[in-house]
Amino acid sequence: MTKTISVLGTGNMGKALVKQLSTHGQSRILWGSRNPEEAEQLVRELQLSNVTVCTNEEALQADLIIPAFHASILKDWAVAHKDQLQGKIVVDISNPFNSDFSGFTTSWGESSAEQLQSLLPASAVIGAFKNTFFKVVEEPLCQGQQSDVLVTGNDENAVQTFLEHVKALPFRFLQAGKLENNRTIERFTLLELELAIRYNTYPYISLQIFGIQQPVAAG
Ligand SMILES: NC(=O)c1ccc[n+]([C@@H]2O[C@H](COP(=O)([O-])OP(=O)(O)OC[C@H]3O[C@@H](n4cnc5c(N)ncnc54)[C@H](OP(=O)(O)O)[C@@H]3O)[C@@H](O)[C@H]2O)c1
Repeated sequence: MTKTISVLGTGNMGKALVKQLSTHGQSRILWGSRNPEEAEQLVRELQLSNVTVCTNEEALQADLIIPAFHASILKDWAVAHKDQLQGKIVVDISNPFNSDFSGFTTSWGESSAEQLQSLLPASAVIGAFKNTFFKVVEEPLCQGQQSDVLVTGNDENAVQTFLEHVKALPFRFLQAGKLENNRTIERFTLLELELAIRYNTYPYISLQIFGIQQPVAAG
């Protein structure tokens, strides 16, 4: 497996994902930022030896690209880089919450992941990590249980390629069907946030679906 994976953005999710990919993954990792010098500083602090810092533009060279941006800027980014993203796998982690987290910028019957796919018809969009709050990405084990990560996509080959790249990471990856399932997945994330606040675990919350024994063998 020689493909390169890139993460764009050094925020909460970008940092947590790079740490996990660097510690457990086998791909070459590019870490894009608007401020590569600050990203270099983070690489030193986190003691990551196998991560190459670059600009967001340079990070588009990767085969699998994870833009760890807010949903509000994701669409403009996709439109601006549509040509460079042709033939690539773009992993959408975004939840389209409104600015005060009281609702969504998408209407019922649409999702951020589907919007991204329609803006990038020549790319394969994968939805993943949407229900996994960044503290859980940093620490996916809780009382002996792994966090689930729901993986969606309309292109089965791209889903398999993504799963191959992340299989060593300490999550239980579940194949969760087509991108339209993100209409549910994204909305459920806001309910998780409400639950996390009510039960005083925020921002440590994710999914663990009861009853599935053999997710790896799922077709
Ligand atoms: N936070 C969570 O627990 C969580 C969980 C699941 C999914 N998500 C999703 O993950 C995505 C990122 O969330 P986050 O919490 O990591 O956000 P965040 O901490 O605010 O980080 C976002 C990063 O995007 C980059 N960025 C910000 N504004 C930009 C702009 N105008 N142009 C280009 N890059 C910009 C910045 O990185 P640089 O300064 O390095 O460029 C910034 O650190 C969101 O879509 C969110 O819905 C978050």
